[in-house]
Amino acid sequence: MPILITGGCGFLGSNIASKFLSLGERVVVMDALFRHGSEQNLAWLESLAKPGQLAHCRVDTADAGPVEAVFQKHGPFDYICHLAGQVAMTTSLSDPRRDMLTNVVGGFNILEAARKHCPDTFLAFSSTNKVYGDLGDFEYAETATRYTIPGHPNGFDESLRLDFASPYGCSKGAADQYFRDWFRNYGLKTVVFRHSSIFGGRQFATYDQGWIGWFCQKAIEQKAERAAGKPVTPFTISGTGKQVRDVLHADDLTALYQSAYEHRNAVAGEVFNIGGGIDNSLSLLELFSLLGHLLDLPSHPKSKIQNPKSFSSANPPSAGSPAAADVSTPPPSADGRSNQEPRTKNQERALGASSSTFRFPPSSFSSAPPPSADGRSNQEPRTKNQERALGASSSAFRFPPLAFDKLPRRRSDQDFFVADIRKAERMLGWKPQVGSREGVARMIAWCQSAAKP
Ligand SMILES: NC(=O)c1ccc[n+]([C@@H]2O[C@H](COP(=O)([O-])OP(=O)(O)OC[C@H]3O[C@@H](n4cnc5c(N)ncnc54)[C@H](O)[C@@H]3O)[C@@H](O)[C@H]2O)c1
Repeated sequence: MPILITGGCGFLGSNIASKFLSLGERVVVMDALFRHGSEQNLAWLESLAKPGQLAHCRVDTADAGPVEAVFQKHGPFDYICHLAGQVAMTTSLSDPRRDMLTNVVGGFNILEAARKHCPDTFLAFSSTNKVYGDLGDFEYAETATRYTIPGHPNGFDESLRLDFASPYGCSKGAADQYFRDWFRNYGLKTVVFRHSSIFGGRQFATYDQGWIGWFCQKAIEQKAERAAGKPVTPFTISGTGKQVRDVLHADDLTALYQSAYEHRNAVAGEVFNIGGGIDNSLSLLELFSLLGHLLDLPSHPKSKIQNPKSFSSANPPSAGSPAAADVSTPPPSADGRSNQEPRTKNQERALGASSSTFRFPPSSFSSAPPPSADGRSNQEPRTKNQERALGASSSAFRFPPLAFDKLPRRRSDQDFFVADIRKAERMLGWKPQVGSREGVARMIAWCQSAAKP
């Protein structure tokens, strides 16, 4: 019986589809081709498939009739990977109805079609860590390069309270609960994966979706500008750059969806937090440092910056300038406490603290040394993988060699999310194999090849 992959021409869907094609399975991809790059991914899948092995159905999952017609024509299916989705938080805010139709109604239609046409199938749903809200009630600490939540050294497990925030959080969260409930009420074999950030080949990153790929592209562009002796064009980030995610390479994601099928009876009805885990966590600033190492960007390039307010190692802000903030030794916070002293985000908000109030003393930018070689607090040990990810050495943390401007923090953004993946390790025998450093190096290569005509 074939495998149905909704959103099969997207980033994750095409990676999973290519794997199953390589294993000789018949694959049906249901994809409305809404996403930039999805047509290229379809052409790529067609180039991999043997005759009759792949079918593409250009169907909007929000349309119940056409969805059912796919099940009638190509089903029953052994395995359904439901990945079609509206994926950007920003788009969900500007068009919440479309977001709801795709994520809620689309998910519902897949469940109902499966219940009617192939009730013995196994369904995996790609949910998100956004179902946990902005995690504003936790106690945060702050190092020179990242936020931390000291009470959760392994990240968050699945017992975390649900708290849907933003239209995207609501729509993905609703579908997440429908998938769980169709197991409870109808016995449909479903599993829910709440994903952190995933990256890798076939991802056509944009400003608001696929941040690792997006910043790889920006770093490549800035390197090319420097090489050509042109002024460097800064990009923008939201917030301080210390927000942390655990990053997972697409190859590991594909292995997860394979493993889930192999363990389908054991994991039916379960929910898993899935990411690279604490060993593969990165803040934006740490990613920029890593990109600097991997692309061999100079710490102090001579190139000019177009926007004088932009932050970069190329133009460290002068003492007293408003940009003399954020990437150095953590100063006492706005309320006079040490930044190592945890406080909840909600307390920060109550204090009126915002990114602009958490400024480093102007003099600290150039004079105060960071707490340790890579800018972390000495109290906080790193794991081996984190060291590798940062290319840790005496010169490990440099001021980010990229030029960027800071925008205000996005509402509903999580300052720290790392998935505690021990349940997945235990029940699925699954563990990420591609470390963040290797993964980012591969992502750079993918961005460079995707940019070629
Ligand atoms: N990539 C990540 O880091 C990440 C993190 C958390 C959750 N997820 C979830 O994983 C899934 C896949 O993500 P991705 O990164 O591959 O996204 P993607 O945008 O690359 O792929 C989604 C695919 O779904 C298709 N699609 C969108 N709306 C559709 C509709 N109404 N009907 C049919 N097809 C439609 C798009 O054309 C696209 O090809 C999404 O549901 C997303 O919410 C991804």
